[in-house]
Amino acid sequence: MSHPTALPRHLAVIMDGNGRWAKQRHRPRVIGHRAGARAVRTIVEYCLKRGIPALTLFAFSSENWNRPEDEVGALMRLFLRMLESEVEELTRQQVHLRFIGDRSRFPEAIRARMAAAEAIHLPSPKLTLTLAAGYGGRADIASAARRLAERVQAGTLRPEQIDEAALGETMSLADLPPPDLFIRTGGEQRISNFLLWHLAYTELWFTDVLWPDLDDAVLEAALADFAGRERRFGLTSEQVNDAALEAR
Ligand code: FPP
Repeated sequence: MSHPTALPRHLAVIMDGNGRWAKQRHRPRVIGHRAGARAVRTIVEYCLKRGIPALTLFAFSSENWNRPEDEVGALMRLFLRMLESEVEELTRQQVHLRFIGDRSRFPEAIRARMAAAEAIHLPSPKLTLTLAAGYGGRADIASAARRLAERVQAGTLRPEQIDEAALGETMSLADLPPPDLFIRTGGEQRISNFLLWHLAYTELWFTDVLWPDLDDAVLEAALADFAGRERRFGLTSEQVNDAALEAR
């Protein structure tokens, strides 16, 4: 059974295509990233407008450190500038900003801004905006496994207590429902080591639109497609329909 009005409770996005957007205009890649930063504003405003309570954006993968030094440097400057200029407005809009991923390689100025933004307490945020920075899905799983192993070693956990729930609770984003909808712009159809654990039953939606060209119409199309999907979570269509009727 599809739900024409169903809204994702959590949207996860790979923002791809900044470089190609710049190339189309014969401009350096950093211009594409700057335009990409404006599209971040577009999607945040959209989530607030539509009442989507959680948005997770893949801002910088663990593999992105291997990009040319000047591009990494330009991205770092852009992140810092965004943190300096956006946090106040996000807070005013009741957006709680936080980060997942290994931030140890980020410059201290950025790490300090990240910590300061995360420390802002909003009693009932309208939107939880998580930026995945220095993030890798495999590393996330490995680090959760390591933490559980440490608890076993310390004697506070028995190996037989390690199950999906225990691992899930130890991973990033444990406090949020898993993403209902994943969007990737830029035409590639892959997950690229994003939220590997969390995307198990997420609906995937891909578009050729380059990230800086994102607008409300693209997001409306994604949400309309999502609302028409039947989510079965491994069950049969009949089981899902019966459960939906019972829940009424
Ligand atoms: C992918 O495009 C984008 C990135 C690696 C960086 C994402 C950064 C932004 C959207 C701007 C800043 C955002 C925040 C949240 C501070 P690509 O460079 O891989 O594009 P291409 O595939 O066309 O080369």
